[in-house]
Amino acid sequence: MKICSTISEARAACRDARSSSKRLGVVPTMGALHEGHLSLVRAAKAQCDAVAVSIFVNPTQFGPKEDLSKYPRQFDRDCRLLEKEAVDILFAPPVEEMYPPGAVTWVLVEGLSEKLDGRSRPGHFRGVTTIVAKLFHILEPDTAFFGQKDAAQLAVIRRMVRDLDFPVEIVACPIVREPDGLAMSSRNAYLNGEERVRALVLQRSLQQAQQGFQAGERNAVNLISAAKEVFAREPQTVLDYFEIVDPDTLDPVERVSQKTLVAVAAHVGATRLIDNLVLEP
Ligand code: PAJ
Repeated sequence: MKICSTISEARAACRDARSSSKRLGVVPTMGALHEGHLSLVRAAKAQCDAVAVSIFVNPTQFGPKEDLSKYPRQFDRDCRLLEKEAVDILFAPPVEEMYPPGAVTWVLVEGLSEKLDGRSRPGHFRGVTTIVAKLFHILEPDTAFFGQKDAAQLAVIRRMVRDLDFPVEIVACPIVREPDGLAMSSRNAYLNGEERVRALVLQRSLQQAQQGFQAGERNAVNLISAAKEVFAREPQTVLDYFEIVDPDTLDPVERVSQKTLVAVAAHVGATRLIDNLVLEP
């Protein structure tokens, strides 16, 4: 695995990998890798001839009171995991490489960036789309792999790619869960024993909505209120949002009549977690 810390090295390595008409797959991450990330890497290995992974804890997508400084950083361990998956290129730049002094240019997907997580995390998606646009320019992937775990992020990135004509195919990969159903996340490491058990409330609330749906309920308000009751019964968890939305526009739907995203975010102790599922009538 070639490890690159500068933009010029990474660009050259990716161009090299793409020459002789090879398909390059890219997996953007913030590191602290788990099986969710590795599932994207494996999908990329299966669908592409060469794979580049980026590890960059992107400061511009964290709010001033968020967890940028304590976000887990485990570079050596991450390298070993990626070596094992036979990743070809790792791009792990320092912050100054991606944001030199005076960097003031942003990529903003208007509207969509203020929905779901964007509503509770102002500026978050502007940071995400800016860094992903930069990674696409630097690494020039044919295909980029993202997790369905961050469903709103996926919608925002798909819209950016469409609106700005990036020649990149976006592939969404299913959510990887712990054996008890908790969606894998680098932030799960923040949870203490009790919180780890409480965190299952996200999954239970989604299941409540799914059961209602399977029993024939199509009214979103009713599905949401049943799911919110699950939260009301779990102490020390604070619901941020529970929404039933169109997966492309992220606008709330009144009735579940086509493919619909059910998305939840909640604070378990000091840790903000998200999860979702898709209902398909
Ligand atoms: P990060 O949280 O490290 O996630 C990197 C990728 O892994 C994202 O596409 C995310 O959706 C996916 N992922 C995380 N947990 C997953 C799980 N349990 N199952 C499947 N996929 C999972 O998302 C980011 O980083 C950043 O916002 C980034 C896109 C890298 C831009 O900075």
